[in-house]
Amino acid sequence: MQGLLVFGRTGQVARELAALASDATFAGRDRADLTNPAACAALIRAVRPRAVINAAAYTAVDRAETEPDSARLINADAPAAMARACADLGIPFLHISTDYIFDGSGDRPRAEDAP
Ligand SMILES: NC(=O)c1ccc[n+]([C@@H]2O[C@H](COP(=O)([O-])OP(=O)(O)OC[C@H]3O[C@@H](n4cnc5c(N)ncnc54)[C@H](OP(=O)(O)O)[C@@H]3O)[C@@H](O)[C@H]2O)c1
Repeated sequence: MQGLLVFGRTGQVARELAALASDATFAGRDRADLTNPAACAALIRAVRPRAVINAAAYTAVDRAETEPDSARLINADAPAAMARACADLGIPFLHISTDYIFDGSGDRPRAEDAP
C-alpha cells in the first residue's frame, strides 16, 4: 500500500500540494485521463493508496456551458468512480470542487446535499 495518490499534476492545486507532499504520487493526464472514469478507478485499485485527492478538473467554466457532456464526465462521472473505488478500499477520498456552484451568500458551511 502506498501513501497519497493525487489526480492532477500540472494544475494550480496539484502543484501547491506537491510543495507540501513531495512523496505523494501525482497522476497527470498521461496516467489518468478523467474522460475515462473506469481507468481512474482502476488506477486507484492498482496503486492501493492510503488516501486519494482529486485535484484534476474541467476548469474552463465558461466553456463548460457549451461542452456540458465533457464537463460532466470529468467533473462528475470521474470523481464518482474515484469515490466508489475509495469506498470499496475503505480509504478517504477528498474531491476539490469548483467555487462556482453557490452564490456566496450565507455565513455557514453548506451541507453536501444543499440544493
Ligand atoms: N485554484 C484555486 O484557487 C481553486 C479555488 C477553488 C476551487 N478550485 C478547484 O480545484 C480543482 C483544481 O483547480 P486548479 O485551479 O488546480 O485547476 P487548473 O490549474 O485548471 O488545473 C486543472 C488540472 O486538471 C487536469 N485535467 C483537466 N482535464 C483532465 C482530464 N481529462 N484528465 C486528466 N486531467 C485533467 C489538468 O491537466 P492538463 O494540464 O493535462 O490539462 C490540470 O492538471 C478544480 O475543481 C477547481 O474548481 C481551485
